[in-house]
Amino acid sequence: MTAEILGLGAHIPEKIVTNEELASTVDTSDEWIRSHTGIGKRHIIAEDKTTSDMAVGASLKAIEKAGIDKDEIGMIILATASGDYSTFPSTACVVQHKLDIKNAAAMDLSAGCTGFVYGLEVARSMILARTQKKVLVIGVEALSRITNWKDRDTCVLFGDGAGAAVLGLNESGDGRGILDSFLGAEGDGYMHLMRKAGGAMHPFHVGEYDEEDLYISMNGRRVYGFAVRVNETIIKTLLKNNDLTVDDLTRIVPHQANLRIIQAAAKRLDIPMEKFFVIMEEYANTSAASIPIALNAMIECGELKKGDLILTAGFGAGLTYGGNLIRW
Ligand code: UT7
Repeated sequence: MTAEILGLGAHIPEKIVTNEELASTVDTSDEWIRSHTGIGKRHIIAEDKTTSDMAVGASLKAIEKAGIDKDEIGMIILATASGDYSTFPSTACVVQHKLDIKNAAAMDLSAGCTGFVYGLEVARSMILARTQKKVLVIGVEALSRITNWKDRDTCVLFGDGAGAAVLGLNESGDGRGILDSFLGAEGDGYMHLMRKAGGAMHPFHVGEYDEEDLYISMNGRRVYGFAVRVNETIIKTLLKNNDLTVDDLTRIVPHQANLRIIQAAAKRLDIPMEKFFVIMEEYANTSAASIPIALNAMIECGELKKGDLILTAGFGAGLTYGGNLIRW
């Protein structure tokens, strides 16, 4: 008995901002961004749209691929760091309303870029506990809305988009589904990636906060070191706990933050780069949406087929990390 992904979809905003375009507004270059991150462009949400709209776009595709009635969904888990509202209501509730899914429970999940990985495990647990039959897990970000476009340290890194998956019980005995997950966090590093203003710690008071506190701030080097280290931990742990070797995996689907992080992890683990599915050149770092967008891209280009064994590996604000082992 497993919980399996019945359908997956993504929503990518049409508008593209290239590295060259960014270089005309901040002191950077296409050469620097590509050589330091592997990013070539990012998709940016339209002005008249918001996070929940992208989530709805991805969810409708996932529901259609799953071939279910939307009202079968009993739970919506939406992972984001850039929801429609800064504290409440949850964006999941807005999505429930926009999708007109009657009676589904709905909640947001705050685990930074690891949000979708965490969400899959929460959904799997609910399905295996038989408290939910169908769960919609969404990873979505409108990071462009909380990015300081004058800060070259961060504005070159992020993009917008959404990915969604419908999960349900697989009783067929064919072994397909989410086989295992490994989740963790290093809360002592919470200050290295944050958006300071708006919470109880630094509430909004007119005229009392610095403008940069409204945006993403990051200690890039500190997060880089953490990312390389935990990528290694996630991959090693999931393989060891399931008596597998890298050769058993069809692909590893890492969080698409920085090509150099993946190259460094590959080197440490002595895994060929071809094992990793890499797509940040096109979408940049879409945080919680990055892994489902990558999975969707794999499906669309025929690189993810029924029976493939894949491993996701995510890390991000919190600092959180985690991975899922999935027989597709
Ligand atoms: O989703 C999870 C969250 N985030 C991440 O995964 C990000 C993790 N960190 C990183 O990916 C990397 O640390 C960055 C890409 C953010 C930065 O790369 P780096 O190689 O660590 O650069 P650095 O911060 O050490 O800066 C090197 C130089 C500095 O100049 P000096 O001091 O050597 O003269 C920076 O001022 O590059 C400069 N720099 C830039 N130059 C051109 C920093 N950003 C830029 C830029 N364009 N956009």
